Amino acid sequence: MIIRLETPGEFREVENLTREAFWNVYRPGCTEHFVLHQYRSNPDFIPELDFVMEEGHLIGHVMFSKAELVLNDGSKKPSWTFGPISIHADYKRKGYGLKLLRYALEEARKMGVGFLCMEGNIDFYKHAGFVLASAFRIHYHDFPKEEEAPFFLAQELIPGWLAAQGIEEATYCPPKGYFVADEDPDAFEAYDATFPHKEKLRLPGQLGYDGVFLESGRIVLRPWLEKDAPAPAGRPTNPSGKAWRSSGRFSIVTRPGRLC
Ligand SMILES: CC(C)(COP(=O)(O)OP(=O)(O)OC[C@H]1O[C@@H](n2cnc3c(N)ncnc32)[C@H](O)[C@@H]1OP(=O)(O)O)[C@@H](O)C(=O)NCCC(=O)NCCS
Repeated sequence: MIIRLETPGEFREVENLTREAFWNVYRPGCTEHFVLHQYRSNPDFIPELDFVMEEGHLIGHVMFSKAELVLNDGSKKPSWTFGPISIHADYKRKGYGLKLLRYALEEARKMGVGFLCMEGNIDFYKHAGFVLASAFRIHYHDFPKEEEAPFFLAQELIPGWLAAQGIEEATYCPPKGYFVADEDPDAFEAYDATFPHKEKLRLPGQLGYDGVFLESGRIVLRPWLEKDAPAPAGRPTNPSGKAWRSSGRFSIVTRPGRLC
């Protein structure tokens, strides 16, 4: 098994791999391949941290992005995030994802990436050193600060990096590059149509409930609950059993045991 930088000649193959890995996992179809496609020309994209995993053929991929933390006084500090990360369906749950991620994180650390935050399932990412971002007093945008965001994870790759930057508390918003499919659905549909047809299925375990969807490989943000409203019957509650809350524009749902 080899992990190495992706080459431009592999872009299409890797986008297809991403599409195959994410298809119908979190919602009917997926958009992560379009995110990746668009990110390559995005200044936030970090080509030095754009890795593929090879086992005779390509079986995995991960990319990183520049991001920002917003301090309480409104000033911004550079930070980083990563994803999508994909392992070919035939190779899932065999340890490849963790190997790829650990390798990529070490390379990122060597490059000076001091702190990463991202949305994901702690059940997977804890094996690579991630904890709830609240441990660092980093909040998720559009999520009440006083509530735990169970999907919002972080890691200090360089111990003490946040303190060295003077960051005691901050808020994170995913970079715009992760929302390209939402911003231009027509462009996304046209792009997706260049791949072989695949059926979009609503499957048990997906994050889709009446307008709550995972999009662009990120947690899903869709309006469906009034602020502080009790979760309607049959709708998911959060892991503490409390009703979902909305900070106004969005409600956020994660489901235990699922990646996001
Ligand atoms: C998520 C993904 C990258 C993980 O890679 P992987 O090679 O399948 O995972 P690994 O075998 O390295 O998993 C290591 C451990 O992480 C945990 N884990 C992995 N996938 C998990 C899942 N779907 N749910 C809960 N825990 C999971 C398990 O503890 C696992 O060990 P185990 O299999 O012995 O129980 C891969 O499954 C994938 O491409 N999924 C579809 C796309 C996706 O969801 N990407 C992540 C978006 S945030």
